[in-house]
This record gives sequence, structure tokens and C-alpha cells, in this order.
Amino acid sequence: MLPAHGSNPEHLIKQLDMAVPEKLIDFSVNTNPFGPPAELQSVWQSLYKEIADYPDPYAKALKAGISAQEQIDGKQLLIGNGASELIHLIARMFQGRHVLIVDPTFSEYRTTCEAYGCHIASFQLNEDDGWQLNANQLSEALNGKDAVFICHPNNPTGVTYSQETLLKVIEEASNLGVYVVIDEAFYDFCIEEISMSKYVTDYRHLIILRSLTKMYALAGIRLGYIIADEAVINHLKRFQPHWSVNTLAQKLGELCIKQTAFVHQTKNNIGLERCRLFPVLKDLGYRLSPSKVNYYLLREETKKSARPLLRFLIERGIAARHTDNFIGLNGKFLRCAIRTQSDNDQLLKALKEWKSIC
Ligand SMILES: Cc1ncc(COP(=O)(O)O)c(C=O)c1O
Repeated sequence: MLPAHGSNPEHLIKQLDMAVPEKLIDFSVNTNPFGPPAELQSVWQSLYKEIADYPDPYAKALKAGISAQEQIDGKQLLIGNGASELIHLIARMFQGRHVLIVDPTFSEYRTTCEAYGCHIASFQLNEDDGWQLNANQLSEALNGKDAVFICHPNNPTGVTYSQETLLKVIEEASNLGVYVVIDEAFYDFCIEEISMSKYVTDYRHLIILRSLTKMYALAGIRLGYIIADEAVINHLKRFQPHWSVNTLAQKLGELCIKQTAFVHQTKNNIGLERCRLFPVLKDLGYRLSPSKVNYYLLREETKKSARPLLRFLIERGIAARHTDNFIGLNGKFLRCAIRTQSDNDQLLKALKEWKSIC
């Protein structure tokens, strides 16, 4: 069993019984390759003074910042110790009930819902449909369910769905009393405006999940939030430990949400790299998912498993994300991050070499 997530590639390499290269570029993690906003460096000194105290259990300042930015009431917000903690709270809310997951997707929805004894069904997306979501088919599958998890943009495909499609699903779910969880961990890497957060006030069954880990390269800090109806927030809050979100996370979060130029520049740089890489990779004969964000699926038409390519890349100092534990992908694909130009060039070079020898 290979590790369940990207990042920390030394674990993957050890599991594959390979030597960890001296220099390694991590394409298995899909956080901002440009690192955290530079402004965060200026606050380390002042944070030292804060750590002796308990954190604000209500994360008031951060909440005020997010609610102003999102133009929502603070009562519609719940800050969490990473989106992962919030997924646990959501799964706890549906304990023992019927949950639908739109696959292939982030594996934590399933593992967490399993831990809470949920009955889980899968709604499978297909490569032949461009990994798109069919609103009519999904709406039919909602019958008898209590909640549906949709990752948007989806991880690992990077594909987005139209607002019309998502609204249709939300509308149908609302009629059936089914909660719709839309995980927007990567929404801010997308050049177009794709968030469904503006519909939370109209649909009390809609739960929007966000993470600050990805855009702000804060994976070690643990910070995320939920936007939902006040009743949902109050319900979820009961399951959350009192001081769940530490002081560093709150303070850094307050700074991060003001970094609009950083976000703009990141998504433009990633967009440019995507436009540069995709035609070259396609010319080399690789099949790619039509991603709109900072990672994509890559596979070879004729190969049943991407494991030999995964190993070949590691030998060249490149860690990609295996897809063994994504339902419906079965290790046939690799997920690669879009990183800086020079990192991407290293990947291109290795992928070219692979094509020349096999
Ligand atoms: C789609 C998606 N949602 C949520 C998370 C978890 O984010 P966090 O680091 O905020 O716990 C991840 C992490 O990989 C993810 O890919």
C-alpha cells in the first residue's frame, strides 16, 4: 500500500523500496509552488509573544476578515484546523447515514465517513466525458442519500463544472433535503470565478469547504473554514474542540486573506505554465485531464499502470502522485502539480526521455 496522500515523498520512495534521490522535486503535492506570501515573514517575532496564551476559541478577527471578504454573516462561518478537521466534523454530522461521493476524488471524504460508520455510495466520473459531471444523473443518484461530497475544482482531475450544473444539483438536493458539500480547496487557483459560496444564503443544505493550505502554501499550519447556514455551523461547532485553531494559524490567516495581489499573480503564473506545458505533453503522446488549476492527471494511452513511469521519474529526482487509491483510476494515471517554470522543465525533460526509451 503506497501512502494515501501526496507530499512527504520520502515515504512513497521508501515504500517503493527505492533510494531517496539527493535532489528531489515534489510534484505529488499541490500547494503553491511559489511558497507562502513574503509578508508572513514579518510577523514571526510578534507571534512569539502570543504563544503563551490560549488561542481565541472564536477566531474573531479572522472570522471578521473572511466574512467581510465573502460578504457573509460571521454566523455562517466555522474556522477549522485545516479543511481535514472540518471534513471530520461533517462526517460526524452524518454518522451512520447515507453519503454519496463523486469519484475519483480526495480520499479523506471516504476514509472519514467510513470511520463514522456512514453508508457510502460512489458516483463515478469518466475520462471519456472529460471528467465532467452530469447534473441529471447525479440528481437521480441523490435519492435516499443524506449528503453528497463534490470536490470543485476536483482533486485529482483539476476539472471544474459549470455553475448551471452545480446549481441544478443543489436545487434537486434541496428539494430532497440532501446536504451538498462542495470542497473548494483549490477554487482560488482557477482564473474564472467558480465559487458557489454566494448560494449559501439561499440554500440551507449547502456547505462550502475551503482550505488555506493550498494557495498560501500553509500545509504545516493547518487552517480551513466552512461557509454554511447558521444552523449547520452551530451543529458542527458542537463536535469541534474548544481551542482547535491555534494562534499562529489565526494570525497568519488574517494576513493571508489580504494577499489579493499574491493570489492574482499565483493563478496567472500557474495559468501560463499550464498553457505552456499542456500542448507539449500532448504532442509527446500523453493524455491529460482538462485541468483549470495547479495539477492534472497524466497517463499513457496504452499503459495499464503508471507505476513504471512513477519509478522512472523518482530515479530522475521527481516525485509524482500515484493514483492507486483514487476510485476508478487504479494507478493508471499520475497526478502532477504545476510548479515553477524550471521545475516544470525538469519534468518535461524526464517525460520526453521516457517516451524516447519506451
Ligand atoms: C480537495 C482537498 N480538500 C481538502 C484538503 C485538506 O486540506 P487541509 O490541508 O486544509 O486540511 C485537501 C488536501 O490535500 C484536498 O486536496
